[in-house]
Amino acid sequence: MQIIIRDHPSEVAELAAALVRAQILRKPECVLGLATGSTPVPLYGALARMSEDGLLDMSLVTSYNLDEYVGLAADHPQSYHTFMREHLFDRAGVRPDQAHLPDGAAGNPDAECIRYEAEIKAAGGIDLQILGIGLNGHIGFNEPSESFSKQTCAVELTQSTLQANRRFFGSDEEVPRRALTMGIGTIFGAREILLIAVGAGKADIIRRTVRGDITPQVPASVLQLHPNTRLLLDREAASAL
Ligand code: F6R
Repeated sequence: MQIIIRDHPSEVAELAAALVRAQILRKPECVLGLATGSTPVPLYGALARMSEDGLLDMSLVTSYNLDEYVGLAADHPQSYHTFMREHLFDRAGVRPDQAHLPDGAAGNPDAECIRYEAEIKAAGGIDLQILGIGLNGHIGFNEPSESFSKQTCAVELTQSTLQANRRFFGSDEEVPRRALTMGIGTIFGAREILLIAVGAGKADIIRRTVRGDITPQVPASVLQLHPNTRLLLDREAASAL
């Protein structure tokens, strides 16, 4: 793991955007793995601005998002489909047919997971995977568990994740309890991984991810074994290292 620390979250976002841009310049038809959540929002803003200013061309990029809530249709205001359209795809000119997320409204979630996994493989796998990290060490929605999930799968969200997601929904009842997520194996298959974390709240889980045991109880700890992973942190997120 390579660890890069910047003073301020805005510098983290700028560097992340520069690394994504470098990947797209190297291989304009690359396959990106994308995350949602609050952490990558400034990164997507920077990529959108670069595209609007003519400094970045994402028209040939294919993307696969990590996850989607079970039960939310693509046009639901809190779906990750909507999030990605608003924060990146519409502004950066990523065509809908090139931007993929698991279908949270699929009638058969298990079949949808098999389909999504096969589609990523058929696209040649992921060149660069962007990750955030949950307070419990989840990546995608792979929550702490007894084993590392191999492939895209349907999961129950833990109480800590439900609480963290509550802020995006009107009431407790509206917070989805299940999600479809790339598996740890899917994520690990990416040729390059860029995990971004900012803020003091992430300091403890970053320490456990980097310095702790490799265990499915801290799903992100598996990244210690990945041959090409960067952790891009601000001072606060790195403060317990
Ligand atoms: C979302 C995802 C999650 C988030 C994590 C951190 O697609 O994969 O693992 O990255 O929950 O969320 P934020 O960035 O909101 O702290």
